[in-house]
Amino acid sequence: MRHRVALVGAGMIAHHHAEKWREAGADVVAIADVEPRVLAAFAKKHGIAAAYTDYAELLWREATVEIVDVCAPPWLHAPMTIAALESGKHVLCEKPMALNATEAESMAGAAEAAGKVLACRQGDTRLARETRTLREVVHSGVLGEIYFMRLIARSLSRPGIEYNPEARWFLDRTKAGGGVLYDWGVYDLEILFSVFGGLQVETITATTFGSVERPKRDIPFDVEEHAVATLTLRDGPMIFWERGWATHLPPENRWDLYGTRAGFSFSPHSAVLKTEMNPRLTRYGHAGPISLEMPPLAPPGLDVFEDFLLAVEGVRAPACSGQEAATMLRIIDDIYAAATHISV
Ligand SMILES: NC(=O)c1ccc[n+]([C@@H]2O[C@H](COP(=O)([O-])OP(=O)(O)OC[C@H]3O[C@@H](n4cnc5c(N)ncnc54)[C@H](O)[C@@H]3O)[C@@H](O)[C@H]2O)c1
Repeated sequence: MRHRVALVGAGMIAHHHAEKWREAGADVVAIADVEPRVLAAFAKKHGIAAAYTDYAELLWREATVEIVDVCAPPWLHAPMTIAALESGKHVLCEKPMALNATEAESMAGAAEAAGKVLACRQGDTRLARETRTLREVVHSGVLGEIYFMRLIARSLSRPGIEYNPEARWFLDRTKAGGGVLYDWGVYDLEILFSVFGGLQVETITATTFGSVERPKRDIPFDVEEHAVATLTLRDGPMIFWERGWATHLPPENRWDLYGTRAGFSFSPHSAVLKTEMNPRLTRYGHAGPISLEMPPLAPPGLDVFEDFLLAVEGVRAPACSGQEAATMLRIIDDIYAAATHISV
Protein backbone atom coordinates (compact mmCIF):
# COMPACT_ATOMS: atom_id res chain seq x y z
CA MET A 1 0.00 0.00 0.00
CA ARG A 2 1.24 3.52 -0.78
CA HIS A 3 2.30 5.67 2.15
CA ARG A 4 0.05 8.64 3.00
CA VAL A 5 1.79 11.93 3.75
CA ALA A 6 0.59 15.32 5.06
CA LEU A 7 2.62 18.48 4.55
CA VAL A 8 2.58 21.27 7.14
CA GLY A 9 3.66 24.59 5.61
CA ALA A 10 2.98 25.34 1.93
CA GLY A 11 5.87 27.73 1.26
CA MET A 12 8.88 27.54 -1.04
CA ILE A 13 10.42 24.22 0.02
CA ALA A 14 7.07 22.42 0.34
CA HIS A 15 6.64 22.46 -3.45
CA HIS A 16 9.88 20.51 -3.82
CA HIS A 17 8.74 18.06 -1.14
CA ALA A 18 5.36 17.45 -2.80
CA GLU A 19 7.14 16.43 -6.03
CA LYS A 20 9.70 14.30 -4.25
CA TRP A 21 7.15 12.34 -2.21
CA ARG A 22 5.37 11.41 -5.42
CA GLU A 23 8.60 10.33 -7.08
CA ALA A 24 9.38 8.25 -3.99
CA GLY A 25 6.04 6.45 -4.37
CA ALA A 26 4.01 8.12 -1.58
CA ASP A 27 0.73 10.06 -1.80
CA VAL A 28 0.49 13.60 -0.41
CA VAL A 29 -3.12 13.61 0.79
CA ALA A 30 -3.33 16.67 3.07
CA ILE A 31 -1.75 20.11 3.47
CA ALA A 32 -1.87 22.81 6.17
CA ASP A 33 -0.87 26.48 6.00
CA VAL A 34 -2.10 29.53 7.92
CA GLU A 35 -2.34 31.62 4.74
CA PRO A 36 -5.61 30.67 3.00
CA ARG A 37 -4.52 31.92 -0.45
CA VAL A 38 -1.16 30.13 -0.28
CA LEU A 39 -2.93 27.01 0.95
CA ALA A 40 -5.53 27.01 -1.83
CA ALA A 41 -2.96 27.61 -4.57
CA PHE A 42 -0.73 24.84 -3.24
CA ALA A 43 -3.58 22.34 -2.93
CA LYS A 44 -4.71 23.11 -6.48
CA LYS A 45 -1.24 22.91 -7.99
CA HIS A 46 -0.47 19.54 -6.39
CA GLY A 47 -3.98 18.09 -6.54
CA ILE A 48 -4.39 17.73 -2.76
CA ALA A 49 -8.02 17.35 -1.65
CA ALA A 50 -7.69 18.04 2.09
CA ALA A 51 -6.47 21.54 3.02
CA TYR A 52 -6.41 23.03 6.54
CA THR A 53 -5.50 26.42 7.97
CA ASP A 54 -4.94 24.76 11.37
CA TYR A 55 -2.38 21.97 11.46
CA ALA A 56 -3.82 20.65 14.75
CA GLU A 57 -7.10 20.03 12.95
CA LEU A 58 -5.26 18.18 10.19
CA LEU A 59 -3.61 15.92 12.77
CA TRP A 60 -6.93 15.25 14.43
CA ARG A 61 -8.97 14.65 11.25
CA GLU A 62 -6.48 12.81 9.05
CA ALA A 63 -6.35 9.55 10.95
CA THR A 64 -5.01 7.55 7.98
CA VAL A 65 -2.02 9.83 7.39
CA GLU A 66 1.08 8.06 8.70
CA ILE A 67 3.78 10.63 7.84
CA VAL A 68 3.82 14.36 8.61
CA ASP A 69 6.38 16.44 6.77
CA VAL A 70 7.10 19.72 8.57
CA CYS A 71 7.94 22.46 6.04
CA ALA A 72 7.09 25.48 8.21
CA PRO A 73 9.76 27.90 9.52
CA PRO A 74 11.99 26.77 12.41
CA TRP A 75 10.13 28.41 15.32
CA LEU A 76 7.23 26.06 14.58
CA HIS A 77 9.24 22.85 14.12
CA ALA A 78 9.19 21.71 17.76
CA PRO A 79 5.48 22.25 18.52
CA MET A 80 4.38 20.83 15.16
CA THR A 81 6.68 17.81 15.34
CA ILE A 82 5.81 16.94 18.92
CA ALA A 83 2.06 17.25 18.21
CA ALA A 84 2.38 15.04 15.13
CA LEU A 85 4.40 12.39 16.99
CA GLU A 86 1.90 12.40 19.84
CA SER A 87 -0.90 11.86 17.35
CA GLY A 88 0.86 8.71 16.13
CA LYS A 89 2.57 9.98 12.95
CA HIS A 90 6.16 9.57 11.79
CA VAL A 91 7.80 12.95 11.14
CA LEU A 92 10.25 14.27 8.59
CA CYS A 93 11.21 17.80 9.64
CA GLU A 94 12.99 20.39 7.51
CA LYS A 95 16.26 21.85 8.73
CA PRO A 96 17.25 23.51 10.95
CA MET A 97 15.61 21.05 13.29
CA ALA A 98 14.53 23.68 15.86
CA LEU A 99 15.32 27.06 17.40
CA ASN A 100 18.04 25.53 19.56
CA ALA A 101 19.52 22.17 20.56
CA THR A 102 17.39 21.87 23.70
CA GLU A 103 14.19 22.11 21.68
CA ALA A 104 15.55 19.61 19.17
CA GLU A 105 16.40 17.17 21.97
CA SER A 106 12.83 17.39 23.24
CA MET A 107 11.62 16.48 19.73
CA ALA A 108 13.93 13.45 19.67
CA GLY A 109 12.62 12.46 23.12
CA ALA A 110 9.02 12.71 21.89
CA ALA A 111 9.85 10.40 18.96
CA GLU A 112 11.35 7.85 21.27
CA ALA A 113 8.36 8.02 23.63
CA ALA A 114 5.94 7.60 20.69
CA GLY A 115 7.98 4.83 19.04
CA LYS A 116 7.90 6.73 15.73
CA VAL A 117 10.55 7.69 13.19
CA LEU A 118 11.81 11.27 13.40
CA ALA A 119 14.32 12.46 10.81
CA CYS A 120 15.60 15.84 9.75
CA ARG A 121 15.97 16.74 6.10
CA GLN A 122 19.24 18.62 5.89
CA GLY A 123 19.13 18.51 2.11
CA ASP A 124 20.11 15.22 0.55
CA THR A 125 23.59 15.90 1.87
CA ARG A 126 24.41 12.66 3.61
CA LEU A 127 23.11 10.55 0.76
CA ALA A 128 24.78 12.67 -1.94
CA ARG A 129 27.54 11.29 -4.15
CA GLU A 130 30.04 13.84 -2.81
CA THR A 131 29.55 12.71 0.76
CA ARG A 132 29.64 9.02 -0.03
CA THR A 133 32.73 9.49 -2.22
CA LEU A 134 34.47 11.44 0.54
CA ARG A 135 33.62 8.74 3.07
CA GLU A 136 35.08 6.06 0.79
CA VAL A 137 38.26 8.06 0.23
CA VAL A 138 38.75 8.70 3.96
CA HIS A 139 37.94 5.13 5.00
CA SER A 140 40.18 3.64 2.28
CA GLY A 141 43.17 4.91 4.28
CA VAL A 142 44.80 6.50 1.20
CA LEU A 143 45.07 9.83 3.06
CA GLY A 144 46.77 8.32 6.12
CA GLU A 145 45.82 10.22 9.25
CA ILE A 146 43.83 13.38 8.56
CA TYR A 147 45.25 16.06 10.84
CA PHE A 148 43.60 19.19 9.43
CA MET A 149 40.55 20.13 7.38
CA ARG A 150 39.77 23.48 5.83
CA LEU A 151 36.12 23.92 4.91
CA ILE A 152 35.05 27.02 3.02
CA ALA A 153 31.60 27.53 1.57
CA ARG A 154 30.20 30.96 0.88
CA SER A 155 27.71 32.13 -1.66
CA LEU A 156 26.17 35.31 -3.05
CA SER A 157 22.71 35.38 -1.59
CA ARG A 158 20.99 35.82 1.74
CA PRO A 159 17.62 34.23 2.44
CA GLY A 160 14.95 36.81 3.24
CA ILE A 161 16.82 39.37 1.06
CA GLU A 162 18.07 38.10 -2.31
CA TYR A 163 16.67 34.55 -1.93
CA ASN A 164 13.01 33.91 -0.98
CA PRO A 165 12.66 37.64 -0.08
CA GLU A 166 9.16 37.21 1.39
CA ALA A 167 10.55 34.88 4.06
CA ARG A 168 11.86 37.62 6.38
CA TRP A 169 11.82 35.18 9.30
CA PHE A 170 15.24 33.89 8.13
CA LEU A 171 16.80 37.09 9.52
CA ASP A 172 15.13 37.00 12.94
CA ARG A 173 16.87 34.83 15.56
CA THR A 174 13.65 34.27 17.51
CA LYS A 175 12.14 32.68 14.40
CA ALA A 176 15.14 31.10 12.65
CA GLY A 177 17.29 30.04 15.61
CA GLY A 178 20.46 31.36 13.96
CA GLY A 179 21.91 32.68 10.72
CA VAL A 180 24.12 31.01 8.16
CA LEU A 181 25.29 28.26 10.54
CA TYR A 182 21.71 27.21 11.28
CA ASP A 183 20.61 27.64 7.70
CA TRP A 184 23.58 26.15 5.83
CA GLY A 185 26.15 25.04 8.39
CA VAL A 186 24.01 22.00 9.18
CA TYR A 187 24.77 20.71 5.67
CA ASP A 188 28.49 20.74 6.46
CA LEU A 189 27.89 18.96 9.75
CA GLU A 190 25.90 16.29 7.89
CA ILE A 191 29.00 15.53 5.83
CA LEU A 192 31.31 15.54 8.84
CA PHE A 193 28.99 13.28 10.85
CA SER A 194 28.68 10.92 7.93
CA VAL A 195 32.45 10.60 7.54
CA PHE A 196 33.51 10.61 11.20
CA GLY A 197 30.36 9.19 12.84
CA GLY A 198 29.91 12.35 14.95
CA LEU A 199 32.30 14.99 16.30
CA GLN A 200 33.63 15.14 19.85
CA VAL A 201 34.44 18.86 19.93
CA GLU A 202 36.98 19.83 22.61
CA THR A 203 37.72 23.49 21.97
CA ILE A 204 36.17 26.20 19.85
CA THR A 205 37.35 29.61 18.76
CA ALA A 206 34.89 31.50 16.61
CA THR A 207 33.84 34.83 15.19
CA THR A 208 30.52 35.65 13.62
CA PHE A 209 29.85 38.68 11.45
CA GLY A 210 26.73 40.67 10.74
CA SER A 211 25.52 43.86 9.08
CA VAL A 212 27.41 43.43 5.80
CA GLU A 213 25.68 45.97 3.57
CA ARG A 214 22.22 45.31 4.96
CA PRO A 215 19.23 46.86 3.26
CA LYS A 216 17.42 49.38 5.43
CA ARG A 217 14.26 47.56 6.40
CA ASP A 218 12.04 47.81 9.38
CA ILE A 219 12.39 44.14 10.31
CA PRO A 220 14.35 42.24 12.96
CA PHE A 221 17.72 41.24 11.48
CA ASP A 222 19.95 39.91 14.21
CA VAL A 223 21.38 36.66 12.81
CA GLU A 224 24.95 36.22 11.57
CA GLU A 225 25.61 36.31 7.84
CA HIS A 226 29.11 34.91 8.00
CA ALA A 227 30.93 32.71 10.52
CA VAL A 228 34.48 31.50 11.00
CA ALA A 229 35.31 28.81 13.55
CA THR A 230 38.21 26.58 14.50
CA LEU A 231 37.31 23.31 16.20
CA THR A 232 39.65 20.85 17.84
CA LEU A 233 38.30 17.34 18.25
CA ARG A 234 39.06 14.70 20.85
CA ASP A 235 39.71 12.09 18.18
CA GLY A 236 40.04 13.66 14.78
CA PRO A 237 41.48 16.48 12.73
CA MET A 238 41.51 20.15 13.60
CA ILE A 239 38.83 21.87 11.52
CA PHE A 240 38.86 25.39 10.14
CA TRP A 241 35.31 26.20 9.07
CA GLU A 242 34.10 29.24 7.15
CA ARG A 243 30.46 29.62 6.15
CA GLY A 244 29.01 32.70 4.52
CA TRP A 245 25.67 33.60 2.97
CA ALA A 246 27.15 36.47 0.99
CA THR A 247 30.45 38.33 0.92
CA HIS A 248 31.94 40.80 -1.54
CA LEU A 249 34.04 37.99 -2.99
CA PRO A 250 33.44 35.30 -5.59
CA PRO A 251 31.55 32.29 -4.23
CA GLU A 252 33.74 29.53 -2.86
CA ASN A 253 32.88 25.90 -2.25
CA ARG A 254 35.96 23.93 -1.33
CA TRP A 255 37.02 21.45 1.28
CA ASP A 256 40.69 20.48 1.74
CA LEU A 257 41.69 17.45 3.79
CA TYR A 258 45.31 17.33 4.92
CA GLY A 259 46.46 13.73 5.48
CA THR A 260 49.83 12.30 6.51
CA ARG A 261 50.05 10.31 3.22
CA ALA A 262 47.95 12.34 0.76
CA GLY A 263 45.60 15.32 0.49
CA PHE A 264 42.05 15.49 -0.87
CA SER A 265 40.28 18.57 -2.26
CA PHE A 266 36.73 18.64 -3.51
CA SER A 267 33.58 20.76 -3.81
CA PRO A 268 30.72 19.54 -1.62
CA HIS A 269 27.08 20.55 -2.11
CA SER A 270 27.56 20.60 -5.86
CA ALA A 271 23.89 19.78 -6.52
CA VAL A 272 22.80 22.87 -4.55
CA LEU A 273 25.57 25.29 -5.48
CA LYS A 274 25.65 24.07 -9.10
CA THR A 275 29.37 23.43 -9.08
CA GLU A 276 31.41 20.47 -10.28
CA MET A 277 32.48 18.15 -7.49
CA ASN A 278 36.00 18.36 -8.94
CA PRO A 279 37.75 15.86 -6.63
CA ARG A 280 41.55 15.82 -6.50
CA LEU A 281 43.77 13.39 -4.64
CA THR A 282 47.37 14.55 -4.37
CA ARG A 283 50.66 13.77 -2.71
CA TYR A 284 53.49 16.15 -1.94
CA GLY A 285 56.44 16.10 -4.34
CA HIS A 286 59.32 18.57 -4.03
CA ALA A 287 58.69 19.90 -7.53
CA GLY A 288 54.93 20.24 -6.92
CA PRO A 289 51.91 18.15 -6.02
CA ILE A 290 51.61 14.76 -7.69
CA SER A 291 48.09 13.74 -8.75
CA LEU A 292 47.02 10.31 -7.56
CA GLU A 293 44.38 8.19 -9.22
CA MET A 294 40.92 8.95 -7.80
CA PRO A 295 38.74 6.01 -6.83
CA PRO A 296 35.50 5.97 -8.85
CA LEU A 297 32.78 8.33 -7.62
CA ALA A 298 30.12 6.67 -5.50
CA PRO A 299 27.13 5.71 -7.68
CA PRO A 300 23.89 7.75 -7.54
CA GLY A 301 21.70 6.59 -4.67
CA LEU A 302 18.48 7.25 -2.77
CA ASP A 303 17.21 10.67 -1.79
CA VAL A 304 15.93 11.63 1.69
CA PHE A 305 12.30 10.85 0.84
CA GLU A 306 13.04 7.31 -0.38
CA ASP A 307 15.34 6.84 2.60
CA PHE A 308 12.64 8.03 5.03
CA LEU A 309 10.08 5.57 3.62
CA LEU A 310 12.57 2.74 4.20
CA ALA A 311 12.95 3.93 7.80
CA VAL A 312 9.16 3.92 8.27
CA GLU A 313 9.10 0.37 6.88
CA GLY A 314 11.75 -0.63 9.42
CA VAL A 315 14.37 -1.44 6.75
CA ARG A 316 17.04 0.94 8.03
CA ALA A 317 17.61 3.99 10.21
CA PRO A 318 16.99 7.35 8.49
CA ALA A 319 19.95 9.25 7.02
CA CYS A 320 19.78 11.93 9.70
CA SER A 321 17.82 11.02 12.84
CA GLY A 322 16.21 13.64 15.06
CA GLN A 323 18.77 12.90 17.75
CA GLU A 324 21.68 13.44 15.37
CA ALA A 325 20.21 16.72 14.13
CA ALA A 326 19.90 17.81 17.77
CA THR A 327 23.56 16.94 18.37
CA MET A 328 24.55 19.06 15.38
CA LEU A 329 22.57 22.05 16.69
CA ARG A 330 24.33 21.58 20.05
CA ILE A 331 27.68 22.05 18.26
CA ILE A 332 26.43 25.22 16.57
CA ASP A 333 24.96 26.53 19.85
CA ASP A 334 28.40 25.94 21.44
CA ILE A 335 30.02 27.87 18.58
CA TYR A 336 27.61 30.77 19.15
CA ALA A 337 28.37 30.70 22.87
CA ALA A 338 32.13 30.81 22.18
CA ALA A 339 31.98 33.35 19.36
CA THR A 340 32.86 36.98 19.33
CA HIS A 341 30.18 38.69 17.26
CA ILE A 342 31.31 41.56 15.09
CA SER A 343 28.72 43.88 13.64
CA VAL A 344 30.63 45.43 10.74
N1 LIG B 1 13.45 27.70 0.68
C1 LIG B 1 14.41 26.81 0.55
O1 LIG B 1 15.11 26.69 -0.49
C2 LIG B 1 14.71 25.84 1.66
C3 LIG B 1 15.65 24.86 1.40
C4 LIG B 1 15.91 23.90 2.37
C5 LIG B 1 15.25 23.99 3.57
N2 LIG B 1 14.36 24.96 3.83
C6 LIG B 1 13.71 24.98 5.17
O2 LIG B 1 12.31 24.74 5.01
C7 LIG B 1 11.57 25.45 6.01
C8 LIG B 1 10.57 26.36 5.31
O3 LIG B 1 11.29 27.26 4.49
P1 LIG B 1 10.61 28.01 3.25
O4 LIG B 1 11.72 28.66 2.51
O5 LIG B 1 9.69 27.09 2.53
O6 LIG B 1 9.76 29.11 4.04
P2 LIG B 1 8.51 29.95 3.51
O7 LIG B 1 8.44 31.14 4.39
O8 LIG B 1 8.60 30.12 2.04
O9 LIG B 1 7.27 28.99 3.82
C9 LIG B 1 6.83 28.70 5.12
C10 LIG B 1 5.32 28.45 5.08
O10 LIG B 1 4.89 28.08 6.40
C11 LIG B 1 3.63 28.68 6.60
N3 LIG B 1 3.27 28.75 8.01
C12 LIG B 1 3.60 29.72 8.93
N4 LIG B 1 3.00 29.45 10.10
C13 LIG B 1 2.29 28.32 9.94
C14 LIG B 1 1.45 27.55 10.80
N5 LIG B 1 1.24 27.88 12.07
N6 LIG B 1 0.84 26.44 10.29
C15 LIG B 1 1.05 26.07 9.00
N7 LIG B 1 1.84 26.77 8.13
C16 LIG B 1 2.45 27.87 8.61
C17 LIG B 1 3.75 30.05 5.95
O11 LIG B 1 2.49 30.64 5.70
C18 LIG B 1 4.53 29.71 4.69
O12 LIG B 1 3.67 29.43 3.60
C19 LIG B 1 12.61 26.20 6.83
O13 LIG B 1 12.94 25.45 7.99
C20 LIG B 1 13.81 26.31 5.89
O14 LIG B 1 15.05 26.44 6.57
C21 LIG B 1 14.05 25.89 2.90
